[in-house]
Amino acid sequence: MNKFAIQSVTAREILDSRGKPTVEVDCELMDGTRARAAVPAGASTGSREAVELRDGDSGRFRGQGVLQAVANVRETIAPHLRGMDVRRQAQIDQTMIALDGTPNKARLGANAILGVSLAVARAAARASGLRLFQYLGGPGATRLPVPHMNILNGGVHAHWQGADFQEYMIAPYGAAGFRQALEWGSEVYHALQAILEKQGLSVGVGDEGGFAPQVRSNEEPFELITAAISAAGLQPGKDVGIACDPAASEFYEDGRYHLRSEGRKLAAAEMAAYYRQLADSYPLVLLEDGMAQDDWEGWKILMSHLGSRLELVGDDLFCTNVELIARGIKEGVANAVLIKLNQIGTLTETIAATRMARDHGWGAFVSHRSGETVDSFIADMTVALDTGHLKTGAPARGERVEKYNQLLRIEEELGPAARYAGTGAYVVPPGLHRGGRG
Ligand code: PGA
Repeated sequence: MNKFAIQSVTAREILDSRGKPTVEVDCELMDGTRARAAVPAGASTGSREAVELRDGDSGRFRGQGVLQAVANVRETIAPHLRGMDVRRQAQIDQTMIALDGTPNKARLGANAILGVSLAVARAAARASGLRLFQYLGGPGATRLPVPHMNILNGGVHAHWQGADFQEYMIAPYGAAGFRQALEWGSEVYHALQAILEKQGLSVGVGDEGGFAPQVRSNEEPFELITAAISAAGLQPGKDVGIACDPAASEFYEDGRYHLRSEGRKLAAAEMAAYYRQLADSYPLVLLEDGMAQDDWEGWKILMSHLGSRLELVGDDLFCTNVELIARGIKEGVANAVLIKLNQIGTLTETIAATRMARDHGWGAFVSHRSGETVDSFIADMTVALDTGHLKTGAPARGERVEKYNQLLRIEEELGPAARYAGTGAYVVPPGLHRGGRG
């Protein structure tokens, strides 16, 4: 008997952190090893993302049910995987891609396929007697990422009640190790809470656990966060930097960027100038989706303004898709790629996208989704792929902190072998920025 042979694969519909249905998959091996994985889901999704299959039955979950994806795992995928060696990840993923037969996983659903892909990887690790990060990354997987904690939410994640920019993150790259980085993150988060309360602003939170106050501009959160870093006894720009994901596709209409909170509509060049002003005034180290997914010309302008000073990450632009990333590298529109498993739908394709970025000297920034579960797969994957940084929400809310807590466990497990990515996490190290206000 091959103890690594797959005995069964099954799936069910569960709820994600937003209370919406998602897919969970269980994989069992011949030797009785069991593993489970759950699939995240986005709200500000790129138009070229692999298809997340939803039932569209308005009688259930407002059409958001995933029973068809669940049935696809049980009835179509599972029979083909039975007996396969679970360590053959690439072959298993390829089998599912072939079974689906579409370019964007529209038939079986990327949510069905990804759940299986991740459950299989976890089962292989378990049956091998290895931690997931060790199984995926081997003996070289010893570097802990800089956690980018989203402490102020805007845009669609705050239901357009506050800032237009979607995510304002703190990046404690000056910490000595991951544990200290997380400690600092939590302290800044709570310092921000106190500042917001003092100013009479709401401390209700958005989808990713960050506060969602009704600010009057997209610059104001930078002020508030810089003040919070200082209030926590840390030095902005030296200990802790700021990263921002405006998610600009969400406010791009008719060739302009509509900043509702400021009552302004900006052309790409004006938008780039705005970002440059922010980079001049605050310790900004990373800007994700500063321009819209369809505005490749805007991205080029952004690169010419800020490409030598900031890590410019493409999310909706690339959708973790090697074809789009290859085009982006050729045209020089960014210098880093956001990595989201469910944008492409299998583990092996996600690894390929990460490799392509790194092979061309680009950064790879691993990300959660706004709809999450307590599955911490991306924590292990980030260490395994050695990407040096990830974002997985605020240092609050169970589905967000579970990833950070898993990184604490990994750091502990590695003991003295653990290293912290620090400023080395970025394609453009933060030392190059011209100093914030601190
Ligand atoms: P989403 O947002 O999961 O709603 O797409 C997360 C992000 O943009 O990084």
